[in-house]
Formats: sequence, C-alpha cells, structure tokens
Amino acid sequence: MDCSVKRQKQTAGVEQRMTNEIETRLTVAKAIAHEAGQLARRRFLDNKRSAFSFKGHQDYLTETDGEVERFIAAALARAFPGDAFIGEEGGGEAGENTWIIDPIDGTSNFARGIPHFCVSIGFLRAGRPEVGVIYAPMLDELYAARTGGGATLNGLPIKVSDTSRLDHAVIEMGWSPRRPVSRYISAVETAISSGISVRRSGSGALGIAYAAAGRIDGYCEIHINSWDVAAGVVIADEAGARLSDFFSGDAIRDGNPILVASPGIAEALSSAVGIALA
Ligand code: IPD
Repeated sequence: MDCSVKRQKQTAGVEQRMTNEIETRLTVAKAIAHEAGQLARRRFLDNKRSAFSFKGHQDYLTETDGEVERFIAAALARAFPGDAFIGEEGGGEAGENTWIIDPIDGTSNFARGIPHFCVSIGFLRAGRPEVGVIYAPMLDELYAARTGGGATLNGLPIKVSDTSRLDHAVIEMGWSPRRPVSRYISAVETAISSGISVRRSGSGALGIAYAAAGRIDGYCEIHINSWDVAAGVVIADEAGARLSDFFSGDAIRDGNPILVASPGIAEALSSAVGIALA
C-alpha cells in the first residue's frame, strides 16, 4: 500500500477511536448526571428550606452539595480511573483528561426552596471542553453535547434563537460578589438602555443551557467559575451560539468572564456588556 494512503487510514483510525472515546464519556456522564440529579431532587423535596451555611458573602452551601459531589466523583473514578477531577466543593487539579463538575449549580435557589438548579458535568481534553451534560432534576431536563455531535435536550436536537433585534432580546446576566458591583450595574444599564430585557435566575449553568435551547438569547457574567460553565460552553457551542473564549489563561483555576449569545445579537451584546467574543 502507498505510504500516504496508509497514513490517511491510520489518521482516520485514530480520529474514529477518539470520537468513540468521547461518545462513551458523554453516555456515562449523562447517566451519572441523571442519577446525581435524582439524589439532589430527593434531598430538595425532603429538606425544603433546610439548614444552609455560607462559604462567603452570598455564597450558599448545603450538605447536599458535598453529598452529590462525592457521588459524582466516585462514579467518574470508577468509570475513568485515569482521569483528573475538579469539583466546586472539593477542588482538584487538572490533567490531560479532566472532569469539571458543579454538584448543584444554583445552590442559593436549592437552599431557599426554589426548584431552579442543576447538576453540571463537563469534560476537557488538553484544556479544551469536549463533553457537557447539565441535568435539571425538578424539570427532568437533560442537556447534553460533545464536540462535533450537536446539542440535545432530552435526546432531541436544540439550537439557539434567531433573534436579531436587541429590543426583542431577552438575556440573563449572572451576578456574584466576586467582582465590583459597579461593573455589574453599568453592564445591566447599558444592556437595558440598548433595548434588551435582562433577567437573573441564580444558575449560570442553566442560564447557558436556556440560551442553547433558544429560550433566551444570551447569558453573560463578568466573572464565573469553571465548574459553572465547563458543560454549558460545549452545549451552547454545539447549539450554534457565539461564545467568549472562557478557557483562555488560568480559567480552570481562576474563572473568567463568560458571554454566550445567539449569532444575531452577539456582536451588539458583546459591546454592550464589555465581554469579548472569541
Ligand atoms: C453560582 C450560580 C450563579 C452565578 C454565580 C455562581 P453556585 O454558582 O451559577 O448563577 O451567577 O457566579 O457562582 O454557587 O450556585 O454553584
């Protein structure tokens, strides 16, 4: 066989193996997210308005965050023993293959009895996101994607909205005390002045998933942590969103700004809120 044909076949074989491996990770992550979400759901229904504490200013913590994280960490370690793991509660170090998870995104909602929260499981290879699964147990909604495979909600394809007018657009702007409040207020003011309707519902992961499903036209936040967005960026990208380059620099450890937007409003939203698109 001619050498270049042999090389092409070898390359195709390697690519196929990598796709199969990512597909396996997606399938396993979906099952784990579902089971973890059911655990969170049971605790939510049993303990509505149960004890919560604070890790810092407006930074809620419940016992269920730790319980769900331990469940996910153990399940991923059994399925992929060589992979690295980073969780919101227990931390961890990145490796070549890294799972980044938030056991309950929307902890303040969970703690206060508001059923808008989710489990978020993202997978990165060599620092780039490749698999994302977000499960909202109170609505039984599972968002999932792998790079190049399209995005789905409960198995059906999703895509971003085709909104192109700012005065028809609805976006979510997340807030945390990690950055000066003046920047948040001024970004909200600019967005509203340009005609956009701005909401905030307390789960960055679900905000991004809603943008991917076309329920809203974008999500942005001046600073957010990697476990809040590792899954969402894959899902939104596969659903046709335009995004900021969240995983640049030391984002895994330190977080970054995030912007996810339907293509028709992406440039205008990016200038309004001061977060650059990739
Ligand atoms: C928070 C939520 C919130 C976002 C914050 C996050 P948590 O995560 O996603 O919507 O605005 O930046 O820290 O504490 O609920 O896991």
